[in-house]
Amino acid sequence: MALVEVRNIKKYFPVTKGIIDALLAREEEFVRAVDGISFEIEKGEVLGLAGESGSGKTTTGRLCVRLIRPTEGEIIYNGKDIAKLKGKELRSIRRRIQFTFQDPTSSLNPRLKIGDAIGDALRLQGIGSTEERKERTEDVLERVGLSPAKSFYNRLPHQLSGGQKQRVVFGRAIILNPEFVVTDEPVAMVDVSIKAQILDLMMDLKKELDLTYLFISHDLATSRHVCDRIAIMYLGKIVEVADKDRIYEDPLHPYAVGLMSAIPIPDPKVKKTEAVPRGEIPSPINPPSGCRFHPRCPKVFERCPNEEPELRNLGNGRQVACHLYDY
Ligand SMILES: Nc1ncnc2c1ncn2[C@@H]1O[C@H](COP(=O)(O)OP(=O)(O)O)[C@@H](O)[C@H]1O
Ligand SMILES: [Mg+2]
Repeated sequence: MALVEVRNIKKYFPVTKGIIDALLAREEEFVRAVDGISFEIEKGEVLGLAGESGSGKTTTGRLCVRLIRPTEGEIIYNGKDIAKLKGKELRSIRRRIQFTFQDPTSSLNPRLKIGDAIGDALRLQGIGSTEERKERTEDVLERVGLSPAKSFYNRLPHQLSGGQKQRVVFGRAIILNPEFVVTDEPVAMVDVSIKAQILDLMMDLKKELDLTYLFISHDLATSRHVCDRIAIMYLGKIVEVADKDRIYEDPLHPYAVGLMSAIPIPDPKVKKTEAVPRGEIPSPINPPSGCRFHPRCPKVFERCPNEEPELRNLGNGRQVACHLYDY
């Protein structure tokens, strides 16, 4: 059984109406940030969620940990639908599932000592005595590589480097001993030179604590290092899912092909053929008809603007939503 199973979830955000719209009685509009997606994450797996900015990755992550409520659909966690949970039940689930925000600086209170930032969740959940909480926090500081813990405990965020702040963010995520962690672009804001260290930390924590990850990143070069499988999103939909090696070596969906060919290649002798995807990502308020990628697709044909392709199984755990593979 999968640890997490998402079934046809949608998240529509209402577009705030101005007075003119109200006067003209214009119909309410929605940003279709996530528009009916399904996927599973096995226990112990790292599933990557990739795609350009604006494709709905962060919203999907926030839905999975129930920071927000889906407009529609189910989120089955350990066999139980958590999509509509509230109050006490939701709080108890939140111990087991954690989310790390993309920007460590803005997600840390600048006036809170990092030891307290990490240990606060214990206090809020009413776990242990003050002394026990401090001990547990020091243990976590060591675990995330902020060592010696005693010298880090009382520091403020501004006294830390970007990489160290990201370590605090992971410390805060693991203090309640979670099972599932959604990590949103964890290395997007850290210096290139320490990206690898943060990814190593993430994988060490996975091993030590038996974690399952949803790893969100627009950077496919990074995802390749840590993910077992990758799901690629475009305008609120999943367009392709496959094992890591398969999707990097042989992407099928034209959007996936475009993303892969845009990954910088260290070898200058290898020439890039086509830098698709061309053009801008359209608005998720009025997404293109049929296949949402059709206006940018180099392989577009008659069927594409008229009919929405389903995400279909091609075997070997591979799924693609594209009319080219519909036979
Ligand atoms: N709270 C919100 N209210 C309105 N629109 C939102 C909100 N959050 C995200 N969006 C919109 O939803 C779409 C997907 O956003 P997001 O999930 O952040 O994508 P990604 O993480 O892939 O960049 C974007 O068009 C974004 O502007
Ligand atoms: Mg995002």
